[in-house]
Amino acid sequence: MTVESVTPDAPDASGTTEASGTTEASDEAARVRTDATGLRVAPVAGGGIPGLGHGLKLVRDPLTFMSQLRDHGDIVRLKLGPKTVYAVTTPALTGALALSPDYIISGPLWESLEGLLGKEGVATANGPLHRRQRRTIQPAFKLDAIPAYGPIIEEEAHALTERWASGEPVDCTSESFRIAVRVAARCLLRGQYMDERAERLCVALATVFRGMYRRMVVPLGPLYKLPLPANREFNRALADLHRVVDEIVSERRASGQKPDDLLTALLEAKDDNGDPIGEQEIHDQVVAILTPGSETIASTIMWLLQALAKHPEHGDRVRDEVLAVTGGRPVAFEDIHKLTHTNNVVVEVMRLRPAVWILTRRAVTDTELGGYRIPAGADIIYSPYAIQRDPKSYARNLEFDPDRWLPERVKDVPKFAMRPFSVGNRKCPSDHFSMAQLSLITAALATKYRFEYVPGSDDATHVGITLRPNRLMLRPVVR
Ligand code: HEM
Repeated sequence: MTVESVTPDAPDASGTTEASGTTEASDEAARVRTDATGLRVAPVAGGGIPGLGHGLKLVRDPLTFMSQLRDHGDIVRLKLGPKTVYAVTTPALTGALALSPDYIISGPLWESLEGLLGKEGVATANGPLHRRQRRTIQPAFKLDAIPAYGPIIEEEAHALTERWASGEPVDCTSESFRIAVRVAARCLLRGQYMDERAERLCVALATVFRGMYRRMVVPLGPLYKLPLPANREFNRALADLHRVVDEIVSERRASGQKPDDLLTALLEAKDDNGDPIGEQEIHDQVVAILTPGSETIASTIMWLLQALAKHPEHGDRVRDEVLAVTGGRPVAFEDIHKLTHTNNVVVEVMRLRPAVWILTRRAVTDTELGGYRIPAGADIIYSPYAIQRDPKSYARNLEFDPDRWLPERVKDVPKFAMRPFSVGNRKCPSDHFSMAQLSLITAALATKYRFEYVPGSDDATHVGITLRPNRLMLRPVVR
């Protein structure tokens, strides 16, 4: 049911030892300088503009830019204004980076996130605090916790198909966001008034994410304080996001109820001294889980809908598979593990359209990666988008081919070439939960509808905190 289930950690097809970072690197090794300790010095990527470095390219067309970097080396240096950033370009080295204790979550991207979403959430914490927080939230995401969410996911998936009228255009952005927020909020923070809150969260999160990306890539602090309509809208949405979270927490407290969910786990959590964790940490934790949880799932649902419209033959195959399993009754959570093609469609969409397209780390010590010297304090980036589309890892790399995840073909995929949830101690806690909802939603949608593009629909990739179509408008047509 998870990506891992279709990407066994097989050695790469060529039999080379990628973990050493030497794959396809022999030419490069000849070009690469070494320092006094014998470690290689990462070359500066070509194409920089004097004075500006690579910044302009990264801002203008980040996906193409990141996808071309492997041609320059396994690890390359980028000049972003006065700053040097290391970009890791091979699957093996991204895995080694994510698994190494020498790197933490830090850097400008995270600092701007903390400023907006809070400093005490799991997504930005490091060290012992991060370990404690992961221990608190993990039970809510464990494989054996997911079946309890089944009825809610089913209800939401079928309600979505009921909401839509055959032949009437659907705004896929707002609809995808809506179901993503509702599922996360209803499953993890169960509460009486969650439906109304879920709607408010939807509206707030959609605005906050739009504005947040702008503030992260163009950090013009004072400009965002001007009383412009866009800034006012952003501030209102951010305030409402924090307000809804406060309401959810205080209402649960007042109710005296302790359902077996993530919110109860947070409210009962103890710090390392055995004392209850503070109000701010509880608040920041809820925000830190809801925000990545809704944006990533919503973007992926948009791309799933786009794939069903663009590749109707796969929509038909999903429908046939679902009917063969269910015999015509509504698809249920228990069916998911039998829906191989549906699952492969989800995985292939996530390969080509990974919600999280860029990841960053900071070296905490002088270290090495694949034989390259990485100095303490260095910022490092890599792109799951580039890795998962790399022609060195995938035959017909840009082709939408869900069958590449069939057991007899999956062994050709190099280790770490398909890790949309990352690996190591920062791996997404929600991989199983996410795959379950994405598969069930895809099954329900493709069984009831085929999808047509509405004139004016624009499915070009919009690059933000996640990747999503610019403005996807589809017409569901009942089968
Ligand atoms: C972390 C991807 C859905 C909660 C991550 C990371 C990735 C990721 C790549 C690691 C970030 C890093 O290494 O720096 C995805 C994708 C999703 C998804 C592709 C769906 C398509 C969700 C959902 C939730 C969630 C539904 C919660 C309801 C989190 C949290 C972290 C995280 C809390 C931080 C973990 C930590 O730092 O320890 N996610 N995610 N994600 N994700 Fe997800």
